[in-house]
Amino acid sequence: MAKDVIIALDFESKEKTLAFLDRFTDVKPFVKIGMELFYAEGPDVVRAIKERGHKIFLDLKLHDIPNTVKKAMKVLSSLDVDMTNLHAAGTIAMMEGALEGLTREDGSRAILLAVTQLTSTSEERMQQELLINATMEETVKQYARNAKAAGLPGVVCSPLEAALVKEACGEDFLTVTPGIRFADGDKGDQVRIMTPEKARAASDYIVVGRPITAAEDPVAAYNRCVKEFLG
Ligand code: C5P
Repeated sequence: MAKDVIIALDFESKEKTLAFLDRFTDVKPFVKIGMELFYAEGPDVVRAIKERGHKIFLDLKLHDIPNTVKKAMKVLSSLDVDMTNLHAAGTIAMMEGALEGLTREDGSRAILLAVTQLTSTSEERMQQELLINATMEETVKQYARNAKAAGLPGVVCSPLEAALVKEACGEDFLTVTPGIRFADGDKGDQVRIMTPEKARAASDYIVVGRPITAAEDPVAAYNRCVKEFLG
């Protein structure tokens, strides 16, 4: 399994994003395009970044009725992305529909991941606001098992829960983990976090946004991340 660092391109325009990517002259990092950039620029920005040779994780976190998600995934299947996702909370039926929609006629498809619980959600909020009575660990494990039952190859979860997910769903089940912070860095709004080095044990991919995009020297921050994560 190829482990990698994915940079979250949380910028508001194509111009800013491409200017950021221009700084990477030696490597073509795996990048994540999220809602902000996709809603601002549409599918064109995905094609432009793909043309530059980057692998792309299209992070739109779909969550709707199964038929709507299936049809939306069918549209996304025409974009040449490597990874995309949805919310496991949408149920197994929704995830099955998504997988069907995402699969092209030749049987190929992007890696489809399910978000378990957002890394910005604390157990306390999950229990008090969402009335989920289980612990965060039990909830994440159950959502991961549901994703596996629907035929998905992995989940997006906190690095703190990646080992649990592997335990519940097997070593080959992918864990993609945001909520990564350097030991000497700023937490921001993230709650359930870990350093790249510690994430190494159970994460297949780490998703890193602000610790790289807001760094004074993003290329150096990316290289530090790769070094800490891949060893
Ligand atoms: O800047 P930061 O490193 O916190 O960025 C993390 C990225 O990962 C953001 O783009 C955020 O939307 C995404 N993400 C997350 N938690 C999840 C799923 C995705 O933080 N559970």
